[in-house]
Amino acid sequence: MTTFATPTIADPLPPSTPSVGRPVSRVDGRLKVTGGAKYAAEFNVPGLLHGYVVSSGIAKGRITKIDASAALAVPGVVHVFTHENRPDLAWFDRKWKDDDAPKGSPFRPLYDAEIVHSLQPVALVIAETFELARYGARLVTVENAAEPHETDLKAGRHNAFTPGKDKGGFEPPPKPRGDADAALAAAAVRVDAEYFQPTEHHNPMELFASTVAVNDDGTLTVYDKTQGVQNTQTYVCNVFGLPTAGVRVISPFVGGAFGSGLRPQHQLFLAVLAATTLKRSVRVELSRPQMFSFGHRPETAQRVALGAGRDGTLTALVHEAVQESSRFENYVEIVVNWSSQQYRCDNVRLDYQLARLDVHTPLDMRAPGAATGVPAIESAIDELAAALKIDPVELRLRNYTDVDPNQGKPFSSKELRACFAQGAERFGWAKRNPEPRSMRDGKHLVGWGMAAGVWDAMQGQAAARAVLGVDGRLTVASATADIGTGTYTVMTQIAADALGLPVGAVTFKLGDSSLPMSPVEGGSWTVSSVGSAVKAACDLVRDRLAKLAAADSPLAGVEPIRMVFEGGRICVSDDRARSVAVTEVMRRAGTLVIEETARSIPNYVKRLKHTLGTHSAVFAEVRVDPDLGTVGVSRVVSAVAAGRIINPKTARSQVMGGIVWGIGMALHEETFTDHKIGRYMNHDLAEYHVPTNADVADVDVIFVEEHDDVVNPLGAKGVGEIGLVGVPAAIANAVYHATGRRVRAFPITPDKLL
Ligand code: MOS
Repeated sequence: MTTFATPTIADPLPPSTPSVGRPVSRVDGRLKVTGGAKYAAEFNVPGLLHGYVVSSGIAKGRITKIDASAALAVPGVVHVFTHENRPDLAWFDRKWKDDDAPKGSPFRPLYDAEIVHSLQPVALVIAETFELARYGARLVTVENAAEPHETDLKAGRHNAFTPGKDKGGFEPPPKPRGDADAALAAAAVRVDAEYFQPTEHHNPMELFASTVAVNDDGTLTVYDKTQGVQNTQTYVCNVFGLPTAGVRVISPFVGGAFGSGLRPQHQLFLAVLAATTLKRSVRVELSRPQMFSFGHRPETAQRVALGAGRDGTLTALVHEAVQESSRFENYVEIVVNWSSQQYRCDNVRLDYQLARLDVHTPLDMRAPGAATGVPAIESAIDELAAALKIDPVELRLRNYTDVDPNQGKPFSSKELRACFAQGAERFGWAKRNPEPRSMRDGKHLVGWGMAAGVWDAMQGQAAARAVLGVDGRLTVASATADIGTGTYTVMTQIAADALGLPVGAVTFKLGDSSLPMSPVEGGSWTVSSVGSAVKAACDLVRDRLAKLAAADSPLAGVEPIRMVFEGGRICVSDDRARSVAVTEVMRRAGTLVIEETARSIPNYVKRLKHTLGTHSAVFAEVRVDPDLGTVGVSRVVSAVAAGRIINPKTARSQVMGGIVWGIGMALHEETFTDHKIGRYMNHDLAEYHVPTNADVADVDVIFVEEHDDVVNPLGAKGVGEIGLVGVPAAIANAVYHATGRRVRAFPITPDKLL
């Protein structure tokens, strides 16, 4: 079971066109719309068994009795796994850690009788069909000794603590600068407010699933929904004590993940447990309610206090956040640091605390931390602008900084000023009447709001292999993922341009743990990390070709440095008429394939001297029904500076997705907990609201030109997350402008406006 669909490529461009910077359509688009793209639960294996998870009904305590006899009596039910009959497994915490694990002791499914969160998996029913497994799961009875739980941040925050590097894994916020509290007290104008963000859950269309095939030689092929096939592989090998060569993980397509696939989830563990114990192939797929059982964007309470002079100069900045984590891991996000990275201020105090609750450990969700902290500071800045009667764009420009005040380093590039200017121009911001409730359309109150966004431009080490055949076809591979972002397409473009080939001559492979090393796909760093490796590998192939051409071809004797690769040919740079086809060079040399592997390592020396980030300015228009309190977002303009844009079409889609997500954060998304039983109550798509087509109207994306020779050899920063960050505050600020009401607790639902 090692074959899987690879994209076929239709070349939408003339052969000689460099493709980077062009809106190349997704090379995997056809497979996706025709159903040719296969997802983790769609790989069929002969003799497959199916598993269904039994979830805990209590939030904290111990299982005292678990009775699977009724389930086992059902014909077709093969086995029921519980903590009582599980095989021996790894003991040390480090064996259970994955590449994205926070500090602490990772959750171990079916390990013992202890219950640490509601919906925790307590049994796995294995049957010949999915329906039988699901039916059997209903028949498993669990008795518990419940203990008092705490799931409410309002109560839990009183025992919050500051996670240092030892407990959090991240540097704590920078030390205070100046005396923010004294400066606040002395400020001519002040805002001081609390902002609240609810728990949110990832709801990718594709449910979490793992199909584990037991091969004839006893090795496993694991089809997993993941953002990192090698992360999955390492986890499975460590937990089950298997050799790396015995586990191959495959994940060619991912139906959305948004961070939820950065850690191996329990369906993977359970499927491997069942397959290795029963020596049969097994699939475990979670249900939509069970998607609420393994991590979430954490509930967060924040205070932002700003002091300013009458001219708008910030004199005091206080940003405090308390965020939930689990009892067993310290999940830490960078929440408050963004505030003093974005604004120049002499008196700053930042504080970040964790509250331990009886929940599963939170989990990265699109722009983790920034999507929480930036809406708070960007709402507070808007409140300050209103108090000062200064235009919100102007106030941001008066406190603009070209140096990161947190670290005293220059930005490698920061075209945020251009984002403000181009976004405002496109939106028509100059026509805004600053007075709240001053703009109307029929009975609707119209509001215009804006906010800035920021995210990191990270890079990790990665490797890629490039293989050029004598037929002129190039295959490039790295064990990365495409979670819908366009990785297949942009890597194809980067490879094609490095060798001057048409994109139609290039195939990019990913999602297979046997391919060259890649970090998890997350943090908007895949173009930067894997793209650099792809370019490096292709450059090595190019060097070999140049040498061959210089030795024996119509270009014999030409220095490789004078050779230009374009249109499948090698030309002399100052005499383009002299050229030779790449395929002819290889034929003459009797070379069937040229294969090179490269590992790219970030230029830490250059990077460490700078702060690297992407920036955005978001402008939003809302229409509020004053009788019903309903809010519609009629228009959004997002101007983004993210270095060189490899593919403006897929990048635009990323930013549009971020805008849709921001609409959800501002107006819709909220996971409700019944604190009496410590359980999420709206764990389905009927009651957990995400934006639909009717909620998204006119969306416009601008990419501001930005040059950066520090970030990586491509000059590209990544766009998966920046599209979201500024949106929630822009909408909240627009709602204020429409209504005169400042809603500081997301989501802004009608009840909060009436
Ligand atoms: Mo993203 S939250 O880094 O997948």
